[in-house]
Amino acid sequence: LDNGLARTPPMGWMHWQRFRCITNCTLYPDDCISDRLFRKMADLMVSEGYLEAGYEYLIIDDCWLAHERDREGRLQPDADRFPHGIKDLADYIHSKGLKFGLYEDYGTKTCEGYPGSLGYLEIDAQTFANWGVDYVKLDGCNSKLIDMPKGYTDFGKYLNQTGRPIVYSCSMSAYFEFKHIPANYKLLSQICNLWRNWEDIQDSYASLKRIVDWYAWRQYRIAKWAGPGHWNDPDMLIIGNFGLSYEQSKAQMALWAILAAPLLMSTDLRTIRPEYKELLQHKEIISINQDKLGIQGKRLPLFISIRENIEVWTRPISPVENGFYSYAIVFYSKREDGHPYAIKFTLRKIGLKNAKGYVVSDVYDSTSGTKILQIDDEFIIRVKPTGVVFLKAIPVAS
Ligand code: GLA
Repeated sequence: LDNGLARTPPMGWMHWQRFRCITNCTLYPDDCISDRLFRKMADLMVSEGYLEAGYEYLIIDDCWLAHERDREGRLQPDADRFPHGIKDLADYIHSKGLKFGLYEDYGTKTCEGYPGSLGYLEIDAQTFANWGVDYVKLDGCNSKLIDMPKGYTDFGKYLNQTGRPIVYSCSMSAYFEFKHIPANYKLLSQICNLWRNWEDIQDSYASLKRIVDWYAWRQYRIAKWAGPGHWNDPDMLIIGNFGLSYEQSKAQMALWAILAAPLLMSTDLRTIRPEYKELLQHKEIISINQDKLGIQGKRLPLFISIRENIEVWTRPISPVENGFYSYAIVFYSKREDGHPYAIKFTLRKIGLKNAKGYVVSDVYDSTSGTKILQIDDEFIIRVKPTGVVFLKAIPVAS
């Protein structure tokens, strides 16, 4: 969507993966979906350096709504959990220098059964703008596939008509792909800033792997639709939660950078361990993720890597020298046989062609410095089980 927003993949924090639909604040006062939780996360996004690292949007997902609209048909939050209303919370979030995102659903009800927008699209877009919303995630539960292309287009128009710049995240594509119907990415790239392609991420390596595989197998159909203003969204970062090991967390961060994916953390910033915080704030990976060319990377054809079950993923990034791209290169091991398996490669084999060679560095190992590699030089790397080695290669100019 060409609205001047999301020129690089959006970055922020979204509650769903970690906090779900916890609404019982008596039993779970610290974890329930409430004003209090979001103010706390806003504070931490700033004081713990996430905002400075680029995480800008604080996004409330499902379960913030009251079960009824007000007398004028407008949405309203649950009064017990959001006693000051949404505008007041948005003002607080803005006062911290953050931007504010909110979830709704295109259908009759949200996925968790709260009022949906069907029949109220225009009113809801206006309500959101009045509250100071900067990002809308529009889900697609409880609606008909056949109505979605027009419905999502209409809601986008209504958002636009409010005059407030609002990032528009569409889940429509996921609902088509669930039913094995290829989504209309051409349309999505025109009407949305980002779109969920497929199923929800869960807090496990199995889920992460399924999602990465899904994108790999459909990359020739999907990757080309990503670019400044319009992105594929493989769902939230689960780093810092219960399900991923440290190596698997490094893998998610690296693969999301290759995929030019939105970086939406969904973790408890009050209790996250320092090593995971460090991963989420990794400067060089974030700068690769946010590369201004906005080209989504791909897995290399399997004949290159299938033998050892270590995949090679590459993404063209800036700077471009003598007409050659720089590259982010991720070796992702799907092996589970307990040792850092060694593989030999040349840059030429992974598709790099600058005859003058490349300045190569290891993104996760800043102590190793840089090396100049010619494209036929063999190098050996060792990839830990279910982990990655992440290289960056910049073409030698002259
Ligand atoms: C769907 C979405 C999730 C989340 C939930 C909320 O499953 O895909 O990301 O928003 O709904 O109910």
